[in-house]
Amino acid sequence: MASSLRLENITKTFGSVTVIDDVTIDIEPGRFVTLVGPSGCGKSTLLNMTASLERPTDGRILIDGRDVTMMTARQRGIAMVFQSYALYPHLTVRQNLAFPLRVQKVAKPEITKKVLQAADLMEIGHLLDRKPRELSGGQRQRVAISRAIIRPATVCLLDEPLSNLDAALRVRVRGELKLLFSRMETTTMFVTHDQSEAMTMSDSIVVLKDGKVQQQGTPLEVYRNPANEFVATFIGSPQMNVLDARIERTDEVVVHAGSIRLPLPESTLLPSGRVRLGIRPEFITAAPVSDGTPVTAKIELVEHMGNSAIVHYRFADGTSLIGLEMIDTQIGVGWEGAVYIDTQRLKFFDTATGQAI
Ligand SMILES: Nc1ncnc2c1ncn2[C@@H]1O[C@H](COP(=O)(O)OP(=O)(O)OP(=O)(O)O)[C@@H](O)[C@H]1O
Ligand SMILES: [Mg+2]
Repeated sequence: MASSLRLENITKTFGSVTVIDDVTIDIEPGRFVTLVGPSGCGKSTLLNMTASLERPTDGRILIDGRDVTMMTARQRGIAMVFQSYALYPHLTVRQNLAFPLRVQKVAKPEITKKVLQAADLMEIGHLLDRKPRELSGGQRQRVAISRAIIRPATVCLLDEPLSNLDAALRVRVRGELKLLFSRMETTTMFVTHDQSEAMTMSDSIVVLKDGKVQQQGTPLEVYRNPANEFVATFIGSPQMNVLDARIERTDEVVVHAGSIRLPLPESTLLPSGRVRLGIRPEFITAAPVSDGTPVTAKIELVEHMGNSAIVHYRFADGTSLIGLEMIDTQIGVGWEGAVYIDTQRLKFFDTATGQAI
């Protein structure tokens, strides 16, 4: 049975510095939740408090509704993979994997079976008789993940477990981990600063900045309706374009950003005045689309990705925007013509607070 996890009004200060500021996170049993945010925002500190490696300055941690704030990791029944993997250096990979099961007095044949299963899953079967120092960083990390998932836990905590893997392996392992955790039905809190990992792996994501929760929701909710400009630009690759703009309400409603002038639906409630205008790259294209508004631009740079292309446009007043063509494009640098912007998909943020409006 999977457990629920609740971090309730957690605050953590080191000396006079507040690194976690009144954070509340609820994870339902069996869900995979990702904490994502830039380096130093407090992700590891939150995870360490959940694992009992740090004590919160204020707030409570509840597992299945039970206050575990003062309990040890073992009492909490938590498994953890650390950002800097902590394997026993004097034990072989096989012994490292077996260790948590031996502690629990699992029968020998069962241990052998589980070790092989876990090793198979992370493709470290050929490394079982090596010591950690004889492994690459990525191989050690895979051993650490295998060891964490080898026995059932109330909650599994993973701190950037994929960061030492090379790009191709990272993409594969993230898919496998996602599948694995959905099968195991273990409640999981996963930490990454990589928004694409957060998007692809999670049932729900929590975006953190400066120790504060910026937004929580499913990956698509957060992507489609970012709560503020920080979330809008942090989640999504290539990044959302954000420009200083002005709303003008006359007999029609338009938004101006330099030489870009886009009509807005009459139903829009935005008042006249300055705003920050957000446009996702996929809603800017050089291919004529029926629901786009044409604006003249020049192409400055095309980054071909084979299956798609990132196109850098320059507009008459010097403004530049990044567009994403979902099918790689024939057009190249020097092209000049109409670029279509989907005005149904624009985002607006308050100039002073950055909050979505
Ligand atoms: N023991 C400590 N004493 C003082 N400050 C600390 C301590 N541990 C962490 N911090 C500070 O708390 C903040 C959050 O650190 P944390 O390690 O949680 O960040 P993170 O989000 O995990 O970053 P990264 O992505 O780089 O791993 C940082 O500014 C860090 O310098
Ligand atoms: Mg960290």
